[in-house]
Order: sequence, then structure tokens, then C-alpha cells
Amino acid sequence: MRILLMGPPGAGKGTQAERISGYCKIPHIATGDIFREAIRSGTDLGRQAKSYLDAGELVPDAVTIGIVRERVQALDCKAGFLLDGFPRTIPQAEALERLLDELSMKLDLVLNIKVAPAVLVERLTGRRICRQCGTSYHLVFNPPKQDGICDRCGGELYQRSDDTPETVSDRMRVYTNKTAPLLKFYRQRGLLRDVDGEPGIDAVWDAILGLLGSLDR
Ligand code: AP5
Ligand code: MG
Repeated sequence: MRILLMGPPGAGKGTQAERISGYCKIPHIATGDIFREAIRSGTDLGRQAKSYLDAGELVPDAVTIGIVRERVQALDCKAGFLLDGFPRTIPQAEALERLLDELSMKLDLVLNIKVAPAVLVERLTGRRICRQCGTSYHLVFNPPKQDGICDRCGGELYQRSDDTPETVSDRMRVYTNKTAPLLKFYRQRGLLRDVDGEPGIDAVWDAILGLLGSLDR
């Protein structure tokens, strides 16, 4: 199963990706997570990416495409993968198409999680993430049992530096200008399926399960 997960910032891509990855037994590859990890570890990639993430802008296509190109050819992607947050521009989508052709691979599904802008701002500003295991919480919609502590591993919860109201609005603008055009790109290829991302996390997951089930048949 090869799946792309699309949707604006805060739509719930990471939240649902974790479930899809477990259910389909495919690796969850999130370009945003790769960049944040590189920044945390102080690598060359992290130094290149930091100013873009801080500003809510996209990391240049050449850098991002190179990373994904290498990652999807790793052994654990033989049986499939779930890409979260890639592609985000038409050149990225075209590069992915060429790469999959080269590898004689096909995409099975592009899942588009739809959520209204006002809801997104509330989700992003209330999000907290575990420093240790990356699990995502929300102060209101999905709170941890104990304030500031991860239920799963006991790690400390933090707020992403690009989850401030100003940067969130820049990220939304970038999404509308550069990423939303991809919906047409994949609709034309017959791969796009929309999911209403506004109900609760479990209800969205049920809708995704229904879609995955319809592909199995
Ligand atoms: P990235 O990390 O991909 O961020 P994003 O696309 O802005 O999306 P988020 O991760 O913020 O949201 P999400 O949809 O995963 O939502 P989540 O599940 O966490 O990218 C960050 C940056 O990296 C970019 O700005 C760019 O600089 C760079 N980058 C990344 N990919 C790139 C690329 N391909 N090219 C160039 N640059 C790239 O949920 C959000 C919150 O809502 C959580 O608190 C969660 O608990 C809550 N929530 C989730 N679902 C629900 C629900 N159904 N009901 C209520 N609350 C919910
Ligand atoms: Mg995410």
C-alpha cells in the first residue's frame, strides 16, 4: 500500500498517519518530522531547514525531493509507505511520479483531510508534542492524563515553534498558494479521496478505515 496524506496544517495528518501506519503496517514518513529531527540533532540538513520552518515557508524542493528519494528506496518501504506532508508543490509531485515510475511502483491512494481554517488555528495553537516519542496531544481535544507529561512514555510535552498564531497564518497562506493546487493534480489521476477531518479523532479514523476497506476489495 502506497499512500499520500494531504491536508492543511493542523488537519490531523500526523494523528491519523500513526493509525494508518499501524493498521497497514507501512512506515510513516513525515518530511516535517525529518526536518525537526535534523534541527534537533544540529546536522547540515537541520541548519539548512531551520529558517524555513521558523518562517512557515517551504524548504527548497531540491532538498526535500532528495530526502524522500532516498527514504522511499529504503528496505522498509518495499511493501509500501505512507507519506505525510510530501509532496507539497507541483514540482515535488512530478518528481515523486518520476521516481515511482523508475521504481515500477504505483500510488494506491491520496487521502485529503479537509478542515475549515478557523478550526485549524485552534488545533495548532493548542497542540503539544512529546519530546521523547513524538506523540501529539491537544490541550482541549486530546489532553494528556497529566499536564505536560506524555501518557505513552512519560516524556516532556512541548509546543512546536511554528505553532504560534503568526507563523500558523503564514503556513496557511503557503498551503493555499503552493500545496492546494496538488488536489487537482491527484484528482485528475483518479487517486484523490476526501475525508471530513472536523469530527473527533476516532470518527475521522472510522471514515479512513472505511476508505481503506473499499481499496482492499
Ligand atoms: P509539517 O510538520 O508537515 O506541518 P504541517 O503540514 O503544517 O502540518 P502539522 O504537522 O502542523 O499538522 P497535522 O496535519 O500533522 O496535524 P496533527 O495531527 O498534528 O511541516 C512543518 C514545516 O516543515 C513546513 O512548514 C515546512 O517548513 C517544512 N516542510 C515539511 N514538509 C515539507 C515539504 N514537503 N516541502 C517543503 N517543506 C516542507 O494535529 C494537530 C492538532 O490537532 C493536534 O493537537 C491533534 O491532537 C489535534 N487533532 C488532530 N485531529 C483532530 C480531530 N479530528 N479533532 C480534534 N483535534 C484533532
Ligand atoms: Mg504533522
